[in-house]
Amino acid sequence: MSSAAADNGTPPALEIADLEAGYGPTVIARGISIVVNKGEMVTIIGPNGSGKSTTIKAIFGLADVEGGSIRLHGEDITGERADRLIAKGVGYVPQAGNIFPTLSVRENVEMGAFTLHGDLDARIEKVQDLFPLLRERWKENAGHLSGGQRQMLALARALVAEPSVLLLDEPTAGLAPQIVDQVLEQIREINRSGVSILLVEQNAIKALRHSDRAYVLARGRNFFDDTADGLLNNPDIGRVFLGLGGADEEGSDG
Ligand SMILES: Nc1ncnc2c1ncn2[C@@H]1O[C@H](COP(=O)(O)OP(=O)(O)O)[C@@H](O)[C@H]1O
Ligand SMILES: [Mg+2]
Repeated sequence: MSSAAADNGTPPALEIADLEAGYGPTVIARGISIVVNKGEMVTIIGPNGSGKSTTIKAIFGLADVEGGSIRLHGEDITGERADRLIAKGVGYVPQAGNIFPTLSVRENVEMGAFTLHGDLDARIEKVQDLFPLLRERWKENAGHLSGGQRQMLALARALVAEPSVLLLDEPTAGLAPQIVDQVLEQIREINRSGVSILLVEQNAIKALRHSDRAYVLARGRNFFDDTADGLLNNPDIGRVFLGLGGADEEGSDG
């Protein structure tokens, strides 16, 4: 984990240490450690069932934490409830079912902020600036949006709460290749605006191209971690986890 250490004394935005988590008696994460330094975009990759979603859910209070700790800007948030985490500045976009198709775009976005105080209009203005397309379709049913637009809406709903840390579980799942790039670029832009991001991705190569660092999970444990470039250029990891024959080959993941 040496690559994860911030050298300026600022606590990491998110620090997961030796996490053991699962669902009731079923333990899935068996000692996972992940650091997201302030301002970083960090990607988790790994085979299906390796515990990626469970890790994200455990951070957001949606899986049972059996051991280890989770810290947000240095504060222990282990086992904290989702609504409290939103108030503390954590945003979460789940893998599926992350918008309400029968509600309007506007209602979906407003739902992301209904527990919060302060100037909602200003925050809505900001997310509309980030996603002009949503502004255009503001009063339409979310069910009429394309797959890529729905993911943007899910991001907008998380962002309207102005999180400092955003947890994203496969935001590009099921999207056409050129839309995958668009959504990942948008996520990187959100990251550049100051939001620390922990991202789970199946489109691993594309995600790594937009990330600072990455973790490979396997069977509920850390398998490997490095800078995103280091991983992209690692022939062993490339062959096994990214489907690459060589470092410069175009991805077969999308
Ligand atoms: N709600 C649940 N209850 C019990 N087991 C679950 C639940 N959700 C996921 N699992 C199991 O946890 C394992 C890891 O799942 P998950 O963390 O979703 O993996 P990944 O996101 O890496 O594909 C899988 O074997 C899955 O069947
Ligand atoms: Mg998953």
